[in-house]
Amino acid sequence: MIQEPVSADALLYERVASRIGKLIDDGVLRPGDRIPSVRRSSHQHGVSVSTAVQAYIALEDRGLIEARPKSGFYVRPRLHRVLAEPRASRPSASAKLVGNTALMARIFEAASRPDVVPLGAGCPSDALLPTTKLNRLLAAATRSNGARGIGYDLPPGCEPLRRQLARRSLDWGCHLGPEDFITTCGATEALILSLRAVTKPGDIVAVESPTYFGVLQALDGLGLKALEIPTHPRDGLDLAALGAAMRRHRIAACVVTPNFHNPLGCLMPDANKRALVEMLAKREIPIIEDDAYGDVQFEGERPRALKSYDTKGLVLLCGSFSKTLAPGYRVGFCAPGRFFEKVKALKLTNTIATPTLPQLAIAEFIQRGGYDHHLRAVRRTYAEQVQRVSHAIAESFPPGIKMTCPHGGMFLWIELPRKVDALELSDRAQREEISIGPGPLFSAKQQFRNFIRVSCGHPWSGRIERAVGVLGSLAKRAAA
Ligand SMILES: Cc1ncc(COP(=O)(O)O)c(C=O)c1O
Repeated sequence: MIQEPVSADALLYERVASRIGKLIDDGVLRPGDRIPSVRRSSHQHGVSVSTAVQAYIALEDRGLIEARPKSGFYVRPRLHRVLAEPRASRPSASAKLVGNTALMARIFEAASRPDVVPLGAGCPSDALLPTTKLNRLLAAATRSNGARGIGYDLPPGCEPLRRQLARRSLDWGCHLGPEDFITTCGATEALILSLRAVTKPGDIVAVESPTYFGVLQALDGLGLKALEIPTHPRDGLDLAALGAAMRRHRIAACVVTPNFHNPLGCLMPDANKRALVEMLAKREIPIIEDDAYGDVQFEGERPRALKSYDTKGLVLLCGSFSKTLAPGYRVGFCAPGRFFEKVKALKLTNTIATPTLPQLAIAEFIQRGGYDHHLRAVRRTYAEQVQRVSHAIAESFPPGIKMTCPHGGMFLWIELPRKVDALELSDRAQREEISIGPGPLFSAKQQFRNFIRVSCGHPWSGRIERAVGVLGSLAKRAAA
């Protein structure tokens, strides 16, 4: 076996990082404690300042420490379960045509009103987005690209962006090239094109239960039937249940969000990812992988994509920059494997092209290294918000509720007492100018009547704290 050469510097910074990591694990350094400055650490460990910086970056990436502006480095609060988690879902075993567009429109409308506290929408707050930097890059792209910037950028789409995606795919455990990607208008278009490429109207598509309502809307629009599969709030899709469903139904495709699912926040273990890909490959069933939240783990390495286990080209990987950079740019992508030509042709007929300038601006942002830097802040903020909202919910909601403990993404999924009707609770909350995601929105059969999704995409503030308190009082009243 050929050994990768490891530089002395690499070993040194790792050694410093693991020494500090051990102090944190052993409780010598506690959450909230300030750790020595980089300069002091370099002195303490007898290494250069740049090695100490590398060690701190590694500790940040592992979620152990965080930098606070103008203040230094601190041990991060550890994620811990605040309440018991809900059980795995048990949806009924029949497939159904979907249709809750009106409910979805109502929630979106409420969530976009500035006077409403946005605990309903799955959008990052403006405060989290690198608006000034992106605007600058967009303006530069306008100037330097002339007519190219306002022309069609025909599929497969912006080459500089596809190059950056290819580079980033190494972090997903994939080895994709620029030629494997098609750029799209958000993950939404990637999902719709993928569904169109592998199904025909009337087909059955297996989905997680609960699932992102955008997937349900896409199935609705294409005349497809959703077959809801039991899903665990920690490990995701129940593979045994999917296997049983495959024996009962002719499943045309399976849509999965293995990394930080919306709304469950669950992360499918790597062994399950591999097993899922192998199980469906045996029957030549395509998997549409929605990786919209793959970049926002709270600690440790970025999780692998299902696509990294795909040897037959059956996984259509979909993603976007909506949850981390610029939802309004509508820049997403699809790596559709063996369905590449089909998705490319469908992209042309669907929207002809993805807007050129936003793609160029994002490509430049990534190329300059800004994305990785920005992601660190996004991950830290989402993690902190999830933790704070969890605690506030545990304090103000009725006793006996259950709640997920996600390790990435931005959602909490809460099981309320059976008596509480989430749709009524959502209406009452809206009257108090608070939006939430009622459970039935996430099911083709409008199940989860006593569940709600709370979004943590906005920085913690007195306004959010008050809104969670009001929501808790409404839930208590409904449960009484
Ligand atoms: C799981 C999931 N997939 C896809 C999307 C849509 O992403 P985009 O805005 O890139 O179309 C969302 C947005 O909420 C989502 O939560």
